[in-house]
Amino acid sequence: MGLRGPRHQETMEKRMSDQAIPAQIGPYQVELEEGKRYFWCRCGRSQNQPFCDGSHKGTGIEPHAFVADSSGTANLCGCKQTDDAPFCDGTHNIV
Ligand code: FES
Repeated sequence: MGLRGPRHQETMEKRMSDQAIPAQIGPYQVELEEGKRYFWCRCGRSQNQPFCDGSHKGTGIEPHAFVADSSGTANLCGCKQTDDAPFCDGTHNIV
């Protein structure tokens, strides 16, 4: 069996399901409330972006929980590639 056999296919499918996918190429501007706990979608599959709706089940990816340290507008990452989760760091400009 070569490298492209069924086992390779299985491995590739597993890898794909373990990866975050961009929900949108740009941030979501949302209103946060100081002291409130939020679950930012890290997998990109939620239908309630930028927040988790449980669609990550089976991906091996978990949401990023955070508590807002102030009330106001925030730009939460939509491409899911930020290095400053849950906030946009501009990475969407290079993905
Ligand atoms: S739906 Fe994406 S992390 Fe939960």
